[in-house]
Amino acid sequence: MKHTAAAMFCLLAFAGTAFAAPEVIKLRNKVTFPHKDHMAITGTCSACHVDGVGKIKGFGKDWAHEHCKGCHIKMQKGPVKCSGCHKWSE
Ligand code: HEC
Ligand code: HEC
Ligand code: HEC
Repeated sequence: MKHTAAAMFCLLAFAGTAFAAPEVIKLRNKVTFPHKDHMAITGTCSACHVDGVGKIKGFGKDWAHEHCKGCHIKMQKGPVKCSGCHKWSE
């Protein structure tokens, strides 16, 4: 039932495009990225997927520190400290 509700939400909000989208993505360097939450936060895929949905071209440290941290700073919400994203000690 939970899944059905989530699927319905995705269907309504994103016209079905979100079906293939992972909920949580384990990135390298001990970063756990709550992907689905971010879809809700931004309400659009193109905030991050500028060239279409899927792998992000040039994704890595520079991209992440610019876009991920950049948005957290701009919105004054979300982690900006290293340890907020990198759970190196866990
Ligand atoms: C806040 C940023 C952000 C938003 C907004 C976002 N994504 Fe993502 N998404 C990512 C990141 C980062 C990855 C992992 C990128 C990589 O590995 O190249 C990813 C990966 C994906 C993947 C998996 C690609 C693969 O083959 O591994 C899919 C599918 C996807 N996103 C779909 C969506 C859809 C659909 C939306 C909008 C409803 C969306 N994303 C919104 C950041 C975002
Ligand atoms: C367009 C703006 C935007 C982008 C881009 C973005 N974030 Fe966020 N992120 C947010 C906001 C806003 C929050 C706070 C959500 C809340 O507190 O409700 C957040 C919260 C988080 C959290 C904390 C989640 C929690 O459970 O406390 C993590 C971790 C995070 N973001 C990682 C990332 C990573 C990694 C990327 C890039 C791949 C990224 N974010 C890109 C806006 C963004
Ligand atoms: C908003 C989240 C966020 C914050 C804050 C953040 N990082 Fe990152 N960092 C990432 C992401 C996402 C990646 C790329 C992960 C991937 O490539 O899969 C990354 C990559 C890296 C890498 C890997 C470089 C490589 O070549 O693999 C290092 C080192 C790093 N960060 C150090 C730091 C340090 C030091 C700080 C604090 C000054 C910091 N990060 C703050 C999200 C963040």
